[in-house]
Amino acid sequence: MDSAALDLSALSSEKSGVVRLTLTDFRNYAHLRINTHLGPIIITGENGTGKTNILEALSFLTPGRGLRGARLADIKRIAPALVTDEYLPTEITNAAWAVSALVVKGDEEIEIGTAVERSLRESAEEARSFDKRIVKIDGQKITSQAELGRYISAIWITPQMDRLFRGGSQPRRSFLDRLVYAFDMEHAKRTANFEHLYKEWYQLLKAGKSDNHWLTSLEENMAALGVAIAAARREQIAKLNTFIEHEPDDVFPNVRLELEGTIEKKLDKLPAVEVEDFYISLLKKQRQNVMFNDNIDGVNRTDFKVYYRRKGMPAELCSTGEQKSLLISIILAQTKCQTLNKGFAPILLLDEVVAHLDEVKREALLEKIRELGLQAWITSTDPSLFASLKDEALFLEVKNNQVK
Ligand SMILES: Nc1ncnc2c1ncn2[C@@H]1O[C@H](COP(=O)(O)OP(=O)(O)OP(=O)(O)O)[C@@H](O)[C@H]1O
Ligand SMILES: [Mg+2]
Repeated sequence: MDSAALDLSALSSEKSGVVRLTLTDFRNYAHLRINTHLGPIIITGENGTGKTNILEALSFLTPGRGLRGARLADIKRIAPALVTDEYLPTEITNAAWAVSALVVKGDEEIEIGTAVERSLRESAEEARSFDKRIVKIDGQKITSQAELGRYISAIWITPQMDRLFRGGSQPRRSFLDRLVYAFDMEHAKRTANFEHLYKEWYQLLKAGKSDNHWLTSLEENMAALGVAIAAARREQIAKLNTFIEHEPDDVFPNVRLELEGTIEKKLDKLPAVEVEDFYISLLKKQRQNVMFNDNIDGVNRTDFKVYYRRKGMPAELCSTGEQKSLLISIILAQTKCQTLNKGFAPILLLDEVVAHLDEVKREALLEKIRELGLQAWITSTDPSLFASLKDEALFLEVKNNQVK
């Protein structure tokens, strides 16, 4: 065991995680309540029974759209009787779904709830219903989802992420941004606000509106947020690279992380205020790109590059198993780093991760989870893979939309 792990096991006596989870009309669950413990939780069951849905519900205890990036409307339980040939999801009107959890963080117990409410927005021309996610902490409605980061954070690996290093840059960017906001709660707000302003700017230009004053004001705001986003990403990457260099893992391949982005690169050479001016002029120059559907450069295009450090190999050229191991390596470094920095560990949501690892790596991962005292929610169709955790883990089986 390395020295960081020693420090961590002392720190992780401050246990954290979800001790009770309640779902209402969430995916296949009409009502589900699970009492859990602050250790490994193994969820097994046949295909399509609802294992991933439980992890997705947990991911909604953090900002964003959950581990599937789902539309809020798709999550509301579809009662089987309603599923007919003519079924159209958007036509189901009645209210909403909810996830609530009793969260432990050290000596504190906090009740966190998130739900979706259907509201009506009336304008002069029409009335339209829309889904709105609300978040409550100890019964109080909060205005920003970022607040959740004070009490809980989660990191997930899902089967969709098998293609994380090979496909387009957007999922890699979101993955990185989630790592950032575990440390810097404001980052969740910044990225959401940037996206919002970007859409507005894009739509104005697409509609041929040339209100220079308005466009300039949007560009100034986008540049200010964009530079803050780029700086926070750089800081996170530097933090993780340094951590990995000093505390290399003994089983999982160590990674080197890099950012490929115009704004992030500029911050190597220029002070933030100058980069902001550069970004404003970059946006102005790109106004015409919108009309021609050309790419818009900026923090919305930044790529997150991962290398297998020892081989000097870019992750996208590594084997499937190696790529999964690289991801695990990143989340382990993040978890340790976060525990040291914030004093509480994230919960790990590992969807079908272990089945793809060889025995040495599987056992190493389970051992690390145990050693670090993490709450890890692990799904699999095969309970026999977890024999080594039989005394520490809580084993849950999903069947008929219930958990035993
Ligand atoms: N809004 C919804 N309402 C009701 N059921 C839904 C809804 N959305 C998804 N489902 C169903 O939930 C079921 C369980 O899905 P889930 O992805 O959790 O299964 P799983 O146990 O992880 O399966 P696998 O082993 O194949 O990964 C699926 O059959 C799916 O069709
Ligand atoms: Mg699944």
